[in-house]
Amino acid sequence: MTALLEFQNLKVHWPGRASGWGKPAPVTRAVDGVNLKIKAGETVAVVGESGCGKSTTGNAALGLAPITDGKIFFEGRDLSLLSKQERRDLWQDMQVVFQDPVAALNPRLTVARAIAEPLVIHGWSAAKVANRVDDLMALVGLNPDQRDRRPMALSGGQRQRVVIARALALSPRLVICDEPVSALDVSIQSQILNLLLRLQHELGLSYLFISHDLSVVRHIADRVCVMYLGVIVEEGPTADVFAAPQHPYTRALLSAIPQPDVSRRGRKERVLLKGDLPSPLAPPKGCPFASRCTIAQSVCAISRPPMELRGDDRKVRCFNPA
Ligand SMILES: Nc1ncnc2c1ncn2[C@@H]1O[C@H](COP(=O)(O)OP(=O)(O)O)[C@@H](O)[C@H]1O
Ligand code: SF4
Ligand SMILES: [Mg+2]
Repeated sequence: MTALLEFQNLKVHWPGRASGWGKPAPVTRAVDGVNLKIKAGETVAVVGESGCGKSTTGNAALGLAPITDGKIFFEGRDLSLLSKQERRDLWQDMQVVFQDPVAALNPRLTVARAIAEPLVIHGWSAAKVANRVDDLMALVGLNPDQRDRRPMALSGGQRQRVVIARALALSPRLVICDEPVSALDVSIQSQILNLLLRLQHELGLSYLFISHDLSVVRHIADRVCVMYLGVIVEEGPTADVFAAPQHPYTRALLSAIPQPDVSRRGRKERVLLKGDLPSPLAPPKGCPFASRCTIAQSVCAISRPPMELRGDDRKVRCFNPA
């Protein structure tokens, strides 16, 4: 089956500014060879620390980041070969929800106007727009009496519901959710995650779900891709990755999640992360995780481990996986 969205060896190298005569401009290797597939109806999470290239990956699919190398396909269509009109049409199929609803919403527009924006741009009649806005508000759990409110009169969770309603206005098939609950209180986070899950079941949506927090993706993602310094280092079905993480980085991320079970036998080994993410301006020659890995061997500083299939459905980029 053709994937809905597919990244093939995607590289995004942001150009920097040259600092002086004769010196080449530095390049940030934000995304450095990402392979990833999302099937129809599936949620794939991309998880990793801040600065590892998650947003740049999503933005490349949205046309907001330059593709240095590799390809992105939507239903088998190479995005780099689309005309301007085809690219605009694709916006109906692929939408985005960013972290900060305050930045995403024009403070002067009412809730109804904000949700209506994409419909108006696509030439819908006023009567059709009004009906669709009512339906969308009900779909995302907003009250009709919130129609004429402005974003600042809403709570953070309600604002994110407006952003989600607007993203769904043109019935997309895929929504890129970039840290959609990171700006919200923990109690509100689960409400928005449950909303996204319900919408997926009702509308058959697919999500590319980006988060720095592994615990957030546990209940929403079918598959998890763990990203480190521009590459995916582990990939697999969510339950399997949580039950038996194989890459030292995934193990460290998981061990940082507080465990509700504190009985002595249930307590997990703690493998905490030391040091910082290396600079993507000068990524290590060998394994990108070598500088922080507690089980690194001499080969790890010299050679890049390839992504290897482990079992039917797991992939790990490590010379010495668990
Ligand atoms: N527009 C840009 N121009 C230059 N560098 C960028 C730009 N956007 C992101 N970067 C750099 O690319 C790297 C990855 O950033 P990003 O994709 O935002 O990571 P994440 O979403 O995982 O936090 C970072 O080093 C960041 O500073
Ligand atoms: S390849 Fe080596 S340095 Fe990299 S994660 Fe595996 S053991 Fe650690
Ligand atoms: Mg980001």
